[in-house]
Amino acid sequence: MAVIIFVIVASLISVALATPGTATFYTSYVPSACYGNQNNGVMIAAASDPLYGNGGICGKVFNVTCTGPTNPVPHPCTGKSVVVKIVDHCPGCGGTLDLSREAFATIANPVAGIIKIDYHQPSHDDSSGKSFIVQQWSSMWNKVQSEVSGTHQPRCTTALHWGE
Ligand SMILES: *[C@@H]1O[C@H](CO)[C@@H](O)[C@H](O)[C@H]1NC(C)=O
Repeated sequence: MAVIIFVIVASLISVALATPGTATFYTSYVPSACYGNQNNGVMIAAASDPLYGNGGICGKVFNVTCTGPTNPVPHPCTGKSVVVKIVDHCPGCGGTLDLSREAFATIANPVAGIIKIDYHQPSHDDSSGKSFIVQQWSSMWNKVQSEVSGTHQPRCTTALHWGE
């Protein structure tokens, strides 16, 4: 029973983490707002103003999936998803994420230029969320068990020995 509830809660959490948005691409990667002249490879992205904030998103990793066209280019999505690291800021960017051309081409036809996406923190972050719930469940369960089995002794037992 607890396992079933856990699975339901865990899947609700993964669904809640996927956020819809749009993505464009860019081609000049260095220097970047987060890392200056440091090269971070090509599986990277720049965050639009609302996401970038004061730069706290730098280094965060997102799993990005193409969900459909935003313009008349039909069926742009390849069906793949791509994991990118945020390395830059895209001031005034119309889309949510500005992907490297390589990352964009992995999930969609670059001719489309701008696409609809879903993005979320990938599985290693998902699993830390799940193990937190496991911890909550097991500490709750231990409490129930110790109360039922009577191993949860009241702390005032020494007071019973006052007459010795
Ligand atoms: C990215 O997300 C998709 C589904 O949204 C999933 O199929 C894929 O395994 C994920 N990839 C990683 C590396 O987490």
